[in-house]
Amino acid sequence: MPRLLIPKETAPGETRVSATPETVKKFVAMGCNVAMEMNAGLDAGFVDSTYAAVGCQLVAPQDQAAWKEADAVLCVQTPTEDSLSLLKPGALLVGLLAPYSNVALSSVVQSHELSAIALELLPRISRAQAADALSSQANIAGYKAVLLAAAQLDRYFPMLMTAAGTVQPAKVVVLGAGVAGLQAVATARRLGAVVYVSDIRPAVKEQVESLGARFIDPPQLEEKPAESGGYANEASQTFLAAQRQQLSDQLAEADVAICTAQVPGKRAPRLISEDMLDRMRPGSVVIDLAVSQGGNSACTDPAKTVDRKGVKLIGASELPCSVANHASSLYARNLLALLKPLIKDGQLFLNLDDELIAGCLISKEGKILSPDVLNPGGAI
Ligand code: NAI
Repeated sequence: MPRLLIPKETAPGETRVSATPETVKKFVAMGCNVAMEMNAGLDAGFVDSTYAAVGCQLVAPQDQAAWKEADAVLCVQTPTEDSLSLLKPGALLVGLLAPYSNVALSSVVQSHELSAIALELLPRISRAQAADALSSQANIAGYKAVLLAAAQLDRYFPMLMTAAGTVQPAKVVVLGAGVAGLQAVATARRLGAVVYVSDIRPAVKEQVESLGARFIDPPQLEEKPAESGGYANEASQTFLAAQRQQLSDQLAEADVAICTAQVPGKRAPRLISEDMLDRMRPGSVVIDLAVSQGGNSACTDPAKTVDRKGVKLIGASELPCSVANHASSLYARNLLALLKPLIKDGQLFLNLDDELIAGCLISKEGKILSPDVLNPGGAI
């Protein structure tokens, strides 16, 4: 019987939990023993008694025996090194492990012969969609970014005709039309804003327009940034300079910029310079979801709001944590969808012939499987 451990998250500001009573019930029905550190779900609105009612064993936080016995630890962010070093050789860690920059994890998985699945690396094939945690969390971030912007903006979002005259709708510029960006577009449109979108992948033009937004065509240079596997490749400095030039006029007229442009494993492209910020209206708002990857905008800081000449710059690194209940429910279902096919006949089996597992298993019993990740000299 595989023994699963749900830890109470320890990263600062983390409010999510990796399992909910709904998913624990399903793991138990599949023959797993599930233990959870007390109050692990509390910040996400799930109380211990609801876990106990579906057969979950509650253990004290950092209970050594629970960590030593676990076959798999289901986490949101990487647990502390002290906890990980209690795990037995061959134990599996599954979570959002920040594989491109997590130097501490690299040494602990090797020295303690651990296996690790980084959900960030799940291949984007249709079979993987139910397990796609990046998408479930990005969707929430895109939605919440717009609500945050609307709450901070000194103007209405919708066009209104009032007795005192007509109010023009807010102009929102969304940079990057991936999962977060498209959800930001949809949410801003629902609130009645006029939305402009920039992305380097021409394929998204149709999606953007179908949501009622206007697509800003990428700069027409001979050299165009390519894409692979649905993701953007890194754009050259020449391309980025031309793109900034093009965006500058749009931003000068914008009330809100929502920055979501990213390239997996690389620094986020710098799309808004200080000169461009100088042209923005005091009272306007910039929300930078790429802030932890270096930021799309100049002067943004993770988890901080900076007032720069009246423009509010919000480094929105942890938005899914501010919608912890739904973020946890979706994340927990992602983990269930990933692990369900791995549990057979009371055993947890990592099948490296399965492209889904091969794509995101970064370490097998201490052996690092992908040279590009868990690399101290890595990209970010
Ligand atoms: P992401 O978070 O890596 O990047 C966000 C967006 O930034 C991307 O659309 C990218 O093209 C854009 N970007 C990069 N450099 C830029 C620049 N210089 N200027 C403007 N935009 C720039 O992407 P995310 O959200 O993870 O999704 C990438 C794609 O994968 C999306 O089209 C999404 O619909 C697709 N997808 C497919 C799934 C599947 O199962 N088939 C599941 C999830 C997403």
